Amino acid sequence: MEQEKRILNEELIEKYWKYIGVGISFKYFPIVIKKSKGCRIWDIEGREYIDFLTSAASFNIGHTNDEVVKAIKQAIDDMIDYDQYLYHEPSIRLAEMLVNIVPGSYEKKVLYELSGGAANDMALKVALAFTGRKYIGSFEDSYHGTHYLVLSSSGSFKPETRYKYNAYPYVYFFKYPDTFRRPRGIEPEEYGEILLGEIERTLQVDAYGKGFAAIIFEPIQGDGGVLVPPKSFIVGLRKIADEYGIVLIDDEIQTGFGRTGKMFAIEHFGIEPDVVTLGKNLGAGFPMSAVVGRKEIIDSGPPNTLGSNASGHYLGSIAAMAGIEYIIKNRLHDRAELMGEYLMKRLNELKDGHEIVGDVRGKGLMIGVEIVDDKDSLKPSSKKAQKIIWRAYENGLIMMTFGKYGNVLRIAPPLTIEREEIDKAVEIMEKAISDVEKGKVGDEVLSKMVAWQ
Ligand SMILES: Cc1ncc(COP(=O)(O)O)c(C=O)c1O
Repeated sequence: MEQEKRILNEELIEKYWKYIGVGISFKYFPIVIKKSKGCRIWDIEGREYIDFLTSAASFNIGHTNDEVVKAIKQAIDDMIDYDQYLYHEPSIRLAEMLVNIVPGSYEKKVLYELSGGAANDMALKVALAFTGRKYIGSFEDSYHGTHYLVLSSSGSFKPETRYKYNAYPYVYFFKYPDTFRRPRGIEPEEYGEILLGEIERTLQVDAYGKGFAAIIFEPIQGDGGVLVPPKSFIVGLRKIADEYGIVLIDDEIQTGFGRTGKMFAIEHFGIEPDVVTLGKNLGAGFPMSAVVGRKEIIDSGPPNTLGSNASGHYLGSIAAMAGIEYIIKNRLHDRAELMGEYLMKRLNELKDGHEIVGDVRGKGLMIGVEIVDDKDSLKPSSKKAQKIIWRAYENGLIMMTFGKYGNVLRIAPPLTIEREEIDKAVEIMEKAISDVEKGKVGDEVLSKMVAWQ
């Protein structure tokens, strides 16, 4: 009998680069994932890893969640999908659910898309249509996706990338408060006030002030490096938007569904945005995204000018409802707060014991650890950060780096993580940090990853 051939990571990865375009390829580690469950993933060669990356904070409910699998299995024999041209029940019931859980004490409606970027693109479009204006306000180092308007409105893309894609020119980037790297002698709240003042001064310029359709923001800037703004900054944004008639778009694609210790991160700040965008976790693994907002804004896009064929996907909507019910039933937002406190405590111990750990910050289980050359200079070190994640990967923990200097370890495990798993992961991190400090991880590993730059 012919023996079954064992497929290796390396062989498939070679094919990947032969057949798949570089524009969608952002690969940190040379492993092909075969299975995922809870807080663990397994590669095709059978190696097991604890997952602190969670497909970029996309599986708050844990991988391959039993309740979601059950709901899908029950539904799949009836239908996989039928969209747009006729009605189906799950997308209607999901919209009702979203309208009820998304903050905002006004009448709301929902639009569906398939990715976070597409949802943001749609939110910006309806804001343009609603206001009849053309300027978009965003923030430096923000990330909102790769669709045209949102690539144009994401501060994290380099000027040459914007140029290459002929980005939408009417986008203005404001400064987002980075309280760790704020100017010396200024308190975080005061720093927020200074930056709000800069926004106001821009809007007071006639050509801009009357022309801004929307300000899109992350309530905690994720890819910028887990930047938690002072409360008064977000409250101030609301006031500015009211004063100038600007649509305030809260991008909860990374922060939503319990990640930060609240169902939505905006709840930490006590304001109501006009529009909230959802993605990643919404579909519990299915490609689903949504724009939820004031009825009159959502309905300002003319019929058949938004969305795509599979928007409001049948099985995706069923998965989404099962995932949201799981979060609510198990109070995963509270769990994120509890486990987040524990994990932050453990990470702060690492900070106390290691010269290259500059800062530990975040909310709930959305945590960033800044890696620096040393505590005196606090000079960001993306090289050391990359070496740490490489050594951690070798020892069974998956994390990535991000942040405006590429030096922040991204810590975003499923919200279902147990203390023992946290302890094991922190042990791996400690060993990786020590190895990097002792010069045991060579420069050659840097070329093995396509890391956040
Ligand atoms: C805050 C935020 N907005 C939007 C997006 C884009 O989502 P997607 O990759 O599903 O298009 C991301 C993805 O990383 C994100 O973190």
